[in-house]
Amino acid sequence: MKLPVELQFIQNARLPQKTTSARLDGQICIITGATSGVGYHAARRLAQAGAQLILVCRNPQKASAVKMELEQETHARVEIVLADFSRMNEVRQAATTILDKYSHLDVLINNAGVHMLRRTLTEDGFETVFAVNHLASFLFTRLLLDRLLASAPARVIQVNSQGHRFGGLNLNDLTWKKRPYLGLLGYGASKTAQLFTVWEFAAALQGSGVTINAMHPGSVRTNIGMNNWLPYRLYNRFILRHFLKDPIISGEAIYYLAAAPEMKDVSGKFFNLTIEEVPAPHTWNRERGKQVWQISEQLTGLEPLKKTK
Ligand SMILES: NC(=O)c1ccc[n+]([C@@H]2O[C@H](COP(=O)([O-])OP(=O)(O)OC[C@H]3O[C@@H](n4cnc5c(N)ncnc54)[C@H](OP(=O)(O)O)[C@@H]3O)[C@@H](O)[C@H]2O)c1
Repeated sequence: MKLPVELQFIQNARLPQKTTSARLDGQICIITGATSGVGYHAARRLAQAGAQLILVCRNPQKASAVKMELEQETHARVEIVLADFSRMNEVRQAATTILDKYSHLDVLINNAGVHMLRRTLTEDGFETVFAVNHLASFLFTRLLLDRLLASAPARVIQVNSQGHRFGGLNLNDLTWKKRPYLGLLGYGASKTAQLFTVWEFAAALQGSGVTINAMHPGSVRTNIGMNNWLPYRLYNRFILRHFLKDPIISGEAIYYLAAAPEMKDVSGKFFNLTIEEVPAPHTWNRERGKQVWQISEQLTGLEPLKKTK
């Protein structure tokens, strides 16, 4: 029995995944949040396939350990760029560092993300989850866009989530001053906003050779949420984990989207791991998407995007 379109993600999660034997030898791949979970496994898979990696991470010790491990195991070239993605000035600094050093970029994977049970604000005054999951990935992509365009073909992958289905995005209350904060809704709002901008990026990039897609990396055992209060951490550690999969599948899926020849011209889509899927109906409204785009530009201090062709 085929489920209604809004519920097909349940069936899609059980479908066999696509793989590729294509390699990425010498390709320069940026990945944010590579110190654990999904990002770590994606970095590992890319390194195994010959990619040169730029790991954008906030914790120098964890990042050095990953760099050393990947270099020893795979002989990949790995560079660390430090940035805390809750601070927009650090996102800008990371982009500048990369632009100064690399005249060519092949793949950008925006993976760094958080899930918080309580409302907190960043130094810039944004709700933290919205800032890290959406604003930072939006700003980073925009700052690197000209270099990606000049390097075309190039691919951008936004690690999104089925959590976008929770909704929660209220453009009149992005800091949750007017409503009680709920972790799942805050997370849903950030991922919804990111999806809206994926459709707009894809439209702007049409025909440029740069593609952008969003993906859900599976429901996998990672550190996400482990920054929250003790009862949640215990619940995660002793109950939730037993229902989650190994994040190795996330790394494989990201690798497929980044490397598969058949993905070369695919853009503006949402994938459940490697299966193309219809995202939640509340993300389909392009007018609202344009609003999200403009607000995201204003909040991150960006000028409107010039024509890309
Ligand atoms: N796990 C799942 O089931 C699942 C499902 C759907 C979507 N996702 C998405 O997958 C992505 C990766 O999450 P994960 O599950 O792998 O969680 P994770 O193990 O906690 O990894 C998150 C990564 O993001 C980094 N990060 C967090 N806040 C940051 C900040 N302010 N600045 C820079 N880096 C930051 C973390 O760095 P540190 O190591 O320094 O903390 C870590 O490298 C997220 O976008 C998440 O929303 C995960």
